[in-house]
Amino acid sequence: MLTWNTLCDDMKAHPSRWLVTGVAGFIGSNLLEHLLKLGQTVVGLDNFLTGYQKNLDMVREAVGPELWSRFHFVEGDIRDLDTCRKVCEGVDHVLHEAALGSVPRSIDDPLLSNSCNIDGQLNMLIAARDAGVKSFVYAASSSTYGDSPELPKVEDKIGRPLSPYAVTKYVNELYADVFAACYGFTTIGLRYFNVFGQRQDPYGAYAAVIPQWFASLLKGETVYVNGDGETSRDFCYIDNVVQANLLASFAGDEARNKIYNVAFGQRTTLNELFALIREEVSRHKPEAAGAQAVHRDFRAGDVRHSLADISRAGTLLGYDPQVDVRRGLRLAGDWYAANL
Ligand SMILES: NC(=O)c1ccc[n+]([C@@H]2O[C@H](COP(=O)([O-])OP(=O)(O)OC[C@H]3O[C@@H](n4cnc5c(N)ncnc54)[C@H](O)[C@@H]3O)[C@@H](O)[C@H]2O)c1
Repeated sequence: MLTWNTLCDDMKAHPSRWLVTGVAGFIGSNLLEHLLKLGQTVVGLDNFLTGYQKNLDMVREAVGPELWSRFHFVEGDIRDLDTCRKVCEGVDHVLHEAALGSVPRSIDDPLLSNSCNIDGQLNMLIAARDAGVKSFVYAASSSTYGDSPELPKVEDKIGRPLSPYAVTKYVNELYADVFAACYGFTTIGLRYFNVFGQRQDPYGAYAAVIPQWFASLLKGETVYVNGDGETSRDFCYIDNVVQANLLASFAGDEARNKIYNVAFGQRTTLNELFALIREEVSRHKPEAAGAQAVHRDFRAGDVRHSLADISRAGTLLGYDPQVDVRRGLRLAGDWYAANL
């Protein structure tokens, strides 16, 4: 099994051609940046539904013109099979990130989440299978644990989904499994747990908690906590997620056709998170030190606690997350302070 450092050296020595769907989004654009810095060739697909041209512009600035010339962007939709076929041509590795995130968005508009997340993934599976790609790694979600009270979350024990979004992400896993059974096309699903870091969108009704709170505190606006603040999550810094994706792409047969938790393996309550983010923002804006959060009702569809058992990813993929929550919040805070 490859370690993270060996893998990076190998990738530099033997570059491959990658497809990243959802490349203009938060996770997709970070995957793109890392891949280009490792000398890879990348095709990216996005329809800009929740992604931004500015995310791609930031990657271009970060990597410089030479590495950027190895990137080819296609504006298009994974709900269109022909588009999926076109972008899969000649590709070695697929990282499928395109989907509509957010539990509340899926409650407001289940049809749109269903079509992007389920129809879109099915198209990508068909296109990637027919193109004969070497690996297909897709974004699954911790929301699949649903109402299961067990902690930590272990991959094989899930509950009932609590939102349309959770249904779509579970169906992704079912389709992936069926593609192995029916067509011998194996994939790896990574169940992300509350990812955060640079370029995560802080704006709009469906923004995730960490970017939203950074933006509110940096602008001197009120921070709202849903519920009593004792809700907890296993927040995972983006670089750990990049590592898991690249390791999974080169995993051997014994590690394929499986689902993996991708998290840091540490639980933080919203009250603790608020204190940590306030501390980070205070380094840039001292007046934020006195900010107090306002509590409001719990949000529909949210699970109460989340904590991942990450031992399967450690054992079978060599996943070894390097950035803990505190360090990740320092990096994210510096980025938001410089870029908002
Ligand atoms: N961020 C998290 O904490 C988290 C947690 C669990 C799972 N995930 C999953 O990770 C993936 C990436 O999430 P993210 O946080 O980067 O979200 P994001 O919204 O920043 O990125 C998703 C990207 O997919 C694109 N997209 C959406 N529908 C599309 C379509 N039909 N055709 C083409 N492009 C489309 C969007 O424009 C966007 O750029 C998603 O599959 C999401 O469900 C994220």
